[in-house]
Amino acid sequence: MVRTIDEITGSRRMRRMRKFDWSRRLVRENHINVDDLIWTIFLCEGTGIRQPIESMPGVDCFSVDVAVEQTLQAMELGIPAIAPFAREPANIKTESGSYIVDPENLTNRFARELKKHAPGIGLITDAALDPYTTHGHDGILHNGVILNDESVEMIAQGALAQARAGADIIAPSDMMDGRVGAIRDNLDANGFQDVAILSYAAKFSSAFYKPYRDAIGTAHLLKGSKNTYYVDPANAVEALREARQDLLEGADMLMIKPGLPYLDIIYRLKETFTVPIFGYQVSSEYTMLKIAATNGWIDGKQAIMEILLAFKRAGCDGILTYFAFDIAEKLHRLT
Ligand code: PBG
Repeated sequence: MVRTIDEITGSRRMRRMRKFDWSRRLVRENHINVDDLIWTIFLCEGTGIRQPIESMPGVDCFSVDVAVEQTLQAMELGIPAIAPFAREPANIKTESGSYIVDPENLTNRFARELKKHAPGIGLITDAALDPYTTHGHDGILHNGVILNDESVEMIAQGALAQARAGADIIAPSDMMDGRVGAIRDNLDANGFQDVAILSYAAKFSSAFYKPYRDAIGTAHLLKGSKNTYYVDPANAVEALREARQDLLEGADMLMIKPGLPYLDIIYRLKETFTVPIFGYQVSSEYTMLKIAATNGWIDGKQAIMEILLAFKRAGCDGILTYFAFDIAEKLHRLT
C-alpha cells in the first residue's frame, strides 16, 4: 500500500510558507542588520595612504587621516563600532613590545583623531604585543618562552594608554592568563571604570590568521607557533573554561576567533552565558571568500550574507568583519 504524501506528512507541509517572497520574509528567523557589524581596519604610517594588502584583495592599510575619513563614512552608514589594527614600522619594535604604552603609537594617535572628528562611533582597540615586538609574538619572549606575568603587566599598561587616547572598549587578544583582571584593575585605578572589556575569550591557534600577519607586517618575524598561549583547535570545553574565567575577571563581552570554523563554540557560549557574544571573521576567512568570488567560483554577495547569518544563528550579537563597510553599503542601498 502506497501512502499519499498527505498521509505520510500528516498534512504538515513545510513548503507552504516558502511559496512567496513575502511569506519567506514573514517567517525569517535571523537578519543581518548594520548594527551587527564591527569593521576591522588596518592602520599604517604616513598621510593620504591607502596601501593594498596583497593577501587580502580589496582591503587597504590606511594612514591615520584616511582611516578617520573612512570611519566617518562607516559611521554615516550606521556601523556602530570599528576595530583598528596597527602596522607599526620596524624601528619601534623591541623584544618587550614596550611601544604599546606609547601615546604616540598608531592606535593611540588614531584614537585621539577619531574621537576629535567622530565621537559617535565605538572604538575597540586590540591590546596585545604582536605589532610592537621584534618576534611577532603577543607576549614577551625570553629564552624561547612567552613570559605570562611580565606580558600581562605590559599589556595592562598598553590598555591604559589606549583608554587615555579614547578607546571605548579594550579587546585583549593575547590569551595570557590573568590579563582581563589586570586590565580591569589598571583601568579602574586610573579612573576608566567606564571603559569596557571585550575579551578574546577563546582565540584558537589557527591557520586562518596569515593574511592579517602579512597586513601588520609580523608574518616574516614570527618563528614558531602561538600554541603555548592560544587554545588548541581540538578543544571546546577548554574554551568554555577560558570564557568563564574572563567573565570572573571582569570581561563585559566575549569574542570567539576565528569565526566560521568555530560556530560550535559560539553556540555553546551563548547557551552557557548571558553576556553579549561576538564572532570574528578573520583574515583568511575573508581571503578565501574574496578570491573565490573574484574568480566567479562562488556568488560572493550571497555567500557572505549566508555566512554572516550562520554567525547570527549560532548566537552572535555582532560580527567583526573586513566586509563590514561593503555590507553596510549594500544594506543602505536596500533601504
Ligand atoms: C594577535 C592578533 C591576531 C589577529 C588579530 N590580533 C592573530 C595572530 O596574528 O596570531 C588575527 C586577525 C585576523 O586574522 O583577521 N594579537
